[in-house]
Amino acid sequence: MKIFETHTHYEDRAFDADRDEMIKKGREAGVDCFVNVGSDLETSRKSIEIARKYGVYAAVGVHPENASDFDENVLAEIEKLAKNPEVIAIGEIGLDYHWEDECPREKQKPAFTSQLSLAAKLDKAIIIHSRDAAEDTFEILKKFAKKMSEEGKTLRLVMHCYGYSPELAKEYVKLGAYIGVGGVLTFKNAKKLRESVLVVPRDRVVLETDSPYMSPEPERGTRNDPSKLRYVAEKLSELWDCTAEEAAEICYQNSLRLFGL
Ligand code: NI
Repeated sequence: MKIFETHTHYEDRAFDADRDEMIKKGREAGVDCFVNVGSDLETSRKSIEIARKYGVYAAVGVHPENASDFDENVLAEIEKLAKNPEVIAIGEIGLDYHWEDECPREKQKPAFTSQLSLAAKLDKAIIIHSRDAAEDTFEILKKFAKKMSEEGKTLRLVMHCYGYSPELAKEYVKLGAYIGVGGVLTFKNAKKLRESVLVVPRDRVVLETDSPYMSPEPERGTRNDPSKLRYVAEKLSELWDCTAEEAAEICYQNSLRLFGL
């Protein structure tokens, strides 16, 4: 099975003791390509280091939870980092009203929109994190998509760890978005996500772990790593009525398109 992992955090402390080993384990399980995703300046820098070391890719950006100190200087630094050849996306960026205590929404919104503009300027894909903020995220992205199309630019974005309704998934697809699917797909109570996957065209689904978080069944609750994506591919193949290898291959091709590779 050949797998493109679109969202991992190998720089996380959870991998400090055995990072090399886990990346090797992922490769043996078929994960021959991955994107290490940053969530602030420090993890963005580390993502680039990892991408360089292992010959893969990085995303750089400031997560809404970390947007309290976001200003022009931080944006300029993200821009500088994004110009490295390993960087294929801006992310993860977005809105998270679940963690509004960490960072109020008035701070989250300008951080989000200015990083969207940066992605447009540099022609990078965008990795969106959105939690408990369905309406505002959609409104902002709808406006952004309109502006992009007026400027004749192509929007390439993924809704990471998609958790909203099937109806909204269809709307995102109309904007040109891809839907990121991970461990949650295997959870018993994830009926809504499975419905979303079924209403989305197959050429708009990509695989992701968000590791070290979100371990799939039957290993739910343990540290996640990309080798466990086979469980997600298997679940997806049940929904699509094909083999796990075929499901992974469809997602692989979708990932290449999403990231412009
Ligand atoms: Ni993440």
